[in-house]
Amino acid sequence: GLRIDAQLRLAHTFSWVWAQRGDHAGRLLHWPWQHTPYPTYARLRAQGPVVSSPVGFEAATTRASVGEVLRGAEFGVEPPQGSGLHERFDVVDLSFLLRDPPDHTRLRRVARPAFAPRMIRTYRDSVEQVCGELLDRALERGRFDLMHDFAQPFPIRVIARLLGVPASDQARFVEIGNTIGSSLDGARSARHLARIRKASAELDQLFDRLLAERRAQPREDVLSSLAAAVDEGQVKGDEVGAMCRLLLVAGFETTVNLIGNGVMALLRNPEQWRALVDDPALAPAAVEEVLRYDSPVQTTGRWVHRDTEVQGVPLRRGSQVICLLGSANRDPEHFTDPDRFDVRRDNAGEHLSFSSGAHYCLGAPLARLEGEVALRALAERAPDLAPAAMPKRRRTLVLRGLSDFPVRTGAG
Ligand code: HEM
Repeated sequence: GLRIDAQLRLAHTFSWVWAQRGDHAGRLLHWPWQHTPYPTYARLRAQGPVVSSPVGFEAATTRASVGEVLRGAEFGVEPPQGSGLHERFDVVDLSFLLRDPPDHTRLRRVARPAFAPRMIRTYRDSVEQVCGELLDRALERGRFDLMHDFAQPFPIRVIARLLGVPASDQARFVEIGNTIGSSLDGARSARHLARIRKASAELDQLFDRLLAERRAQPREDVLSSLAAAVDEGQVKGDEVGAMCRLLLVAGFETTVNLIGNGVMALLRNPEQWRALVDDPALAPAAVEEVLRYDSPVQTTGRWVHRDTEVQGVPLRRGSQVICLLGSANRDPEHFTDPDRFDVRRDNAGEHLSFSSGAHYCLGAPLARLEGEVALRALAERAPDLAPAAMPKRRRTLVLRGLSDFPVRTGAG
């Protein structure tokens, strides 16, 4: 169907982007997951702030151009109205992530209170507890897989608690989350798409049941406030499922990758790991530098709603722009010596890894809390952490992260 076609075009664009490396020229559908995209980004930036691909997308490459597109009123996440264009990249509906105003404004407002800084502070104990339990078990073994035993279960347990998914449903919730999370990168095949749809339907059922329970007996959790928002008419009944899905998916793989990419960067730069071990109060700064240096989300996209220009490059209504977040974060015009990983960098927090403008990551305060708690706990409890084997990269393009990362501590 149309969505698969859009996915394929996106994949082609990526393969074109990566083909700029030079060593893969001519291989249209090359999946470059083992590679680092950063040399490619540097080549693209040298071509200009906005570069046209022969397969129909524009790519914004610099911090200035990416920021302008993300904040510009001429751009949207939906195709321009009345353009007859309907292609969308979403395999499943992810609520306001994929809506322009007025729906975006209305739906985001409903989800917002749960992520307010005041609320985030109240989550700290819970986040530290989940982190502590997982690390107790992993560190006891001496040798463990950072991804399977720590980075993957951690954020999904946090979000399950935060939403109010009972412990008895959490194992299934994790499985469904894994499947739906894989949709952020698009469907790989009709079978994959069918699996995603099935998981999505099952998640809807789970949330329907939980919402009904909360309506009868409200508690202090996100599901209870969503149930109330439906009753007050702020959210339509059929919009709730998509919003729950968004909160699950957006906060899951992304944070997994923050932790995995972060530990990998730290262990590959032992003097940086040492700095964190010596001073765990550096953890929040380290999180910002990890986000900048190896962004968990490498790209996002926008439609051009009105003819405009970005950094002197004209863009026509109806075209699509890929925002290369990971390239913006390595822009030497903004970050000195951008390929160096330095947890003491003073402007690391100016990365675009959480996007910018109206869609700026709603969960950023939670992601920062989880990242800080995870890196600090590892530095404090496993100062001799070391790789035990080569990490494996996930076969994804939009999300950048590891699937496996065997590590050991002195005992292991
Ligand atoms: C949106 C990144 C963690 C919830 C976004 C966007 C990015 C992003 C790039 C915007 C995409 C765009 O502009 O098109 C990340 C990263 C994370 C992370 C790198 C972890 C390191 C979380 C967490 C949650 C969350 C923990 C909450 C559970 C959301 C939501 C949106 C969003 C609800 C949609 C905002 C909107 O469209 O208005 N995130 N995210 N994210 N994120 Fe995150």
